[in-house]
Amino acid sequence: MGKSVHGFSKLSKHEKINWLVTTFFNDDEKIKKVIQQYWNTNKVLQYLHDDFIENTISNFYIPFAIAPNFLINGKEYTIPMTIEESSVVAAASLVAKFWRTRGGFSAKVISTKKVGQVHFMYKGNKEELKNYFNSKKEDFYKVTENITKNMRKRGGGILDIELRDKTKELANYYQIHVTFETMDSMGANFINSCLEAIANEFKKPDIQIVMSILSNYVPECLVHAEVSCKVEDLYAENSEELAQKFVQAVQIANAEPHRAVTHNKGIMNGIDAVVIATGNDFRAIEAGAHAYASRSGKYKSLTNASIENGIFKFWIEIPLALGTVGGLTKLHPLSKLSLELLENPSAKELMEIIAVAGLAQNFAALRALTTTGIQKGHMKMHLTNIIKQLGASEEEKAFLIDYFEHKTVTHNAVVEAYKKLAKDK
Ligand code: MEV
Repeated sequence: MGKSVHGFSKLSKHEKINWLVTTFFNDDEKIKKVIQQYWNTNKVLQYLHDDFIENTISNFYIPFAIAPNFLINGKEYTIPMTIEESSVVAAASLVAKFWRTRGGFSAKVISTKKVGQVHFMYKGNKEELKNYFNSKKEDFYKVTENITKNMRKRGGGILDIELRDKTKELANYYQIHVTFETMDSMGANFINSCLEAIANEFKKPDIQIVMSILSNYVPECLVHAEVSCKVEDLYAENSEELAQKFVQAVQIANAEPHRAVTHNKGIMNGIDAVVIATGNDFRAIEAGAHAYASRSGKYKSLTNASIENGIFKFWIEIPLALGTVGGLTKLHPLSKLSLELLENPSAKELMEIIAVAGLAQNFAALRALTTTGIQKGHMKMHLTNIIKQLGASEEEKAFLIDYFEHKTVTHNAVVEAYKKLAKDK
């Protein structure tokens, strides 16, 4: 009751913060400072960010990092990554270096079709519906001509328009299923505008249009990326056995959904970080990737691995509907910079780069999990973070890292060791 508010979006930013602070934080001035310390002093930049969404009161920073040394299809890349999880960028950089001495990554776009649907209900005769749809098909292209004009000039547009009978799944339910080629744009607005125009042209009293919307399930907007090398070149020791374990780890993810979800989460660590850095929609990518992982009816790994004739091969196949023009890509200064850093790739090239980022992350995770485990690396980072928070000197830092070499790192244990060190001095 006391926490509801009317006309909030019409308040100024200061008024919004005042309401927040008095309603939730007992008028605590410190809260205002926390919020305001993230405001940008560059007003133009701040207005830009304010306007991305409604009710903006501050900015939420996520680190923006770069992972150098990627070799993809023989070309060098420094990959921008936006992510809060420690170890993801370090892992990407390590793996990039590892594979560049083994021929690098190769990647190839398989297809770039996107999908949108007009969902509708119809209770009448099926043949009549088919005839009506066929009589309208040409008009669908006509009523979307203005919207598709520029896209057609760039080589894209509407590829196909089909009537789909979905009455087995849901009584009276049909779709107009439209496939699109959107070239370098993600195409959400373009697709939705076309669909609404088509729906408008199609409607009549016995057809109830329920909704018109693009689909984030894009199994035909697919990219493949891979690495391979001789098994003996994969590890310094026990290469044969460790390579087998690596392949088994992928097989386990293919056999068991609990593991597959975590396995794919690790892949998405790499994918999302680049998707966000380049101003693309990571929710769309996530939804599409997980749906693709379930396409057989069972949730499985997005990567695969094999050993054949002494050659280890590791690959990913993932749908990625991306844009390098439009949306946030050029609007957000850091997305623009990210795309420049990648030498302004086409959407296809970006699909290849991002698939590689996912594959690299999965390689790092599986290599660690099947050898030392991931905690060793994580704990090292955890330890250095705590040491940093404690404000330890370089000398104290070296001591503590050495001290915890074979001990379990917990926040308490590090604080205690640090205190003891200070006392002993
Ligand atoms: C952590 O963010 C990701 C991993 O759990 C992925 C995996 O288990 O493969 C390490």
